[in-house]
Amino acid sequence: MFSLRTATVAATTTTRCVRSRLRTSPVTSVRGSRGGIISTRIHDKRSFTTYDSLPEEHQMVYDMCRKFADEELAPYASEWDQKHKFPKEKIKQMADLGLMGINTSEDYNGCGFDAMSYAIAMEEISRGCASAGVVMSAHNSLYCYPIEAFGTDQQKQQFLAPYAKCFEEDDDAASNASIGCFGLSEPGNGSDAGAASTTATFSPDTNEYTINGSKAWITNAHEASAAVIFATTDKSLKHKGISAFIVPFHNDGDEDKKTFRDGFSLGKREDKLGIRASSTSNLIYENVTIPQEYLLGELGQGFQISMQVLDGGRIGIAGQALGIASASIDCAVQYALQRHAFSKPIASLQSIQNKISTMVCKRDAARLLTWRAAQLKDGGKNYTREAAMAKLCASEAATYCSHQCIQILGGMGYVTEMPAERYYRDARITEIYEGTSEIQHLVIANDVIKEYRKKQ
Ligand code: CAA
Repeated sequence: MFSLRTATVAATTTTRCVRSRLRTSPVTSVRGSRGGIISTRIHDKRSFTTYDSLPEEHQMVYDMCRKFADEELAPYASEWDQKHKFPKEKIKQMADLGLMGINTSEDYNGCGFDAMSYAIAMEEISRGCASAGVVMSAHNSLYCYPIEAFGTDQQKQQFLAPYAKCFEEDDDAASNASIGCFGLSEPGNGSDAGAASTTATFSPDTNEYTINGSKAWITNAHEASAAVIFATTDKSLKHKGISAFIVPFHNDGDEDKKTFRDGFSLGKREDKLGIRASSTSNLIYENVTIPQEYLLGELGQGFQISMQVLDGGRIGIAGQALGIASASIDCAVQYALQRHAFSKPIASLQSIQNKISTMVCKRDAARLLTWRAAQLKDGGKNYTREAAMAKLCASEAATYCSHQCIQILGGMGYVTEMPAERYYRDARITEIYEGTSEIQHLVIANDVIKEYRKKQ
């Protein structure tokens, strides 16, 4: 199997290097409409709607991730789910393939692939295991992206380069992964992200910030070694008084990551309905000090950073939801072809066919929305509304498809012998994290109304 890093593949009659092919395609660095540098590759302004029409490098990403998911994730996903086991060896393999730094630029050990590649990879990985999908997505879009877009070179060297690699080459899978996480929500606020009560107080005497508060529902909390978090630096300014920080879990200079930073602790590992192979916990800060240099972006820029991060993150979660929808369709159709009732396969019954056709329509429509959002991002355009639409529709498609998959399997859909019940449980969170469906409706509607107001 090739990887996005070494990336040699047999394509038609020649062996090509995916990465070097990407390097030779026209690359431009543009500033997103809301600030932040977005590295993008321009594909002749075409838009892609089918796998066949994708540029070769995207097809290679698709083939690589699909094969990896089929061989290395899907056969084990049920066991990880039942044991709540984080699949560290597989995450290392994903890192070796380049997936843990898929969008990070090559200057900082990433692969420099675009948002389309990310959306495609997220769907295929999540088709094999939705937990592996969320580990990859929280790490890439919620941790690596803000550091690349808003960090100083020093911050990128220290907190991005090792993370885009994720594991050192000679590491065995059990040691020292560099996995990141993102702390925005708190026990007392989720959808109202501007109501953060965690504080960061600056001391001019020591040039340090002291952080107090708790961050909630943190994906990767138990495997991560650093977080991008948001804290209020000036309450009187409301959302404009929120700042972003990079906070390593361990004391500076503790290369072996042996002890947590003074005052820092993790909450209990949440016992979740789905995506149970990924960990979720609170991050608790009690007088945790960090140097001034760990401020990410400008003072007071935190809310805007968090919103921009979530725009990109929603493309990743849409991809994850598409993967769950696709896995549900695979499972349902294969079962319907084998299962006989009334002397024929149930796939020939019209009521089952209606379900299958509706599942595929919903999944494909959501995929088109996801690809549109990714292509807008790659083109340096504003894609806030489109990412929200993609995430809303893809998560609803995942819920619908996994629900109907159980219905087609009947009793077999309700037991752990088949993966249908896991898909159903995994799908549910995609309508909640990185902005609930209700928040996506709000983002979409506000943008539409703004557009009409402008015309009046
Ligand atoms: N990009 C950049 N800036 C943006 C933006 C965007 N997409 N959306 C809004 N902003 C800016 C606005 O321009 C405005 O700037 P000014 O003050 O300079 O004018 C500012 O942010 C405030 O905008 P709003 O008035 O629209 O903000 P709001 O308070 O009404 O809230 C919201 C907007 C959409 C509801 C937002 O709070 C939100 O997205 N909430 C959901 C939070 C969320 O998704 N949480 C998930 C946590 S991550 C997670 O799930 C964990 C995990 O590990 C997976």
